[in-house]
Amino acid sequence: ADKTSQYTIGFSQCVGSDLWRRNMLDEMKMELSLHPDARFIYADADNSSKKQIKQVKQMLDEGIDLLIISPNEAQPLTGIVEQTYNKGIPVIVIDRKTSSDLYTAYVGADNYQIGKMAGEYIGNNLGKGNIVEVMGLPGSSPAIERHRGFSDALAKFNNIHIKAQVYGDWLKDHAQKQLYQVKPDLKTADALFAHNDVMAGASREVLNNLHLNHHVKVLGVDAMPGAGGGLQMVASKTIDASLVYPTGGKEAITTAFRILNKEAFSKENILQSLVIDSTNVQLMKMQWNKINNQQKDIERQQSLLEEQRQVYNSQQLVLNIIVIT
Ligand code: FRU
Repeated sequence: ADKTSQYTIGFSQCVGSDLWRRNMLDEMKMELSLHPDARFIYADADNSSKKQIKQVKQMLDEGIDLLIISPNEAQPLTGIVEQTYNKGIPVIVIDRKTSSDLYTAYVGADNYQIGKMAGEYIGNNLGKGNIVEVMGLPGSSPAIERHRGFSDALAKFNNIHIKAQVYGDWLKDHAQKQLYQVKPDLKTADALFAHNDVMAGASREVLNNLHLNHHVKVLGVDAMPGAGGGLQMVASKTIDASLVYPTGGKEAITTAFRILNKEAFSKENILQSLVIDSTNVQLMKMQWNKINNQQKDIERQQSLLEEQRQVYNSQQLVLNIIVIT
């Protein structure tokens, strides 16, 4: 049985402001709405590992029954996650990892695999050529894993060479600043792999500013639906492809309640990825629109139910009064 009324879940997010993480939180809230009595404590560390450690400590002081965390950088957050786990508080690690296997469950896609798929996509489409890689924040696990997968895949293509690698830290401004430092490599590049769509879009701007007379293929990661997301950028040919990176928000909350209710759960919950390019982007957009419409229907039904509940409650009140008098 679900005893949600007693539960407080803490969610420590490394940064909350971008589209991908706003989506993660929306998914969580949607799933949490099925557990109306649970408490949810949310903290956004604003890209700072130091701040994130502090916020987790505050949550522990506050008293949480379970911690969900997306660690900004693996190494700095390992200690606090291990301490939490060793206190007997279950920890669900989402998207980014620590450097330790002391956690209760992990939810997220396989970032090594995503890097590998990006490398294979470029290798198979290009045959030969020069590559620029725009990596995420050094020390954050998806950057490390996407980079490893990408290099391993490209090692199998003898005529493809990575000419420049820069750290864009997952951010538009940082990526652009770094890219202007490797201008000559951009001029001879045939493809560019950015570790997320924010940096992929930013890279396209830089390439456009250089007025190159050849097309540079740009790949990103996330493939978010909605305004400014990767799906839209692929559809409008701003970028050539993106790899789906599910946020795992819903799965984190369902796993949390399984753990809290002492039900069976898996430690590793690996979500699927997929390459989106011009061949399948319309299909993906259609599917997403359909889900979005269904979601709106559900919300309409919920508010209707709520109205009826209120009508019913006021009738109950009348009935009660009749019984009493
Ligand atoms: C969002 C983000 C995503 C990326 C993920 C990696 O903050 O940068 O774009 O896929 O984090 O952890």
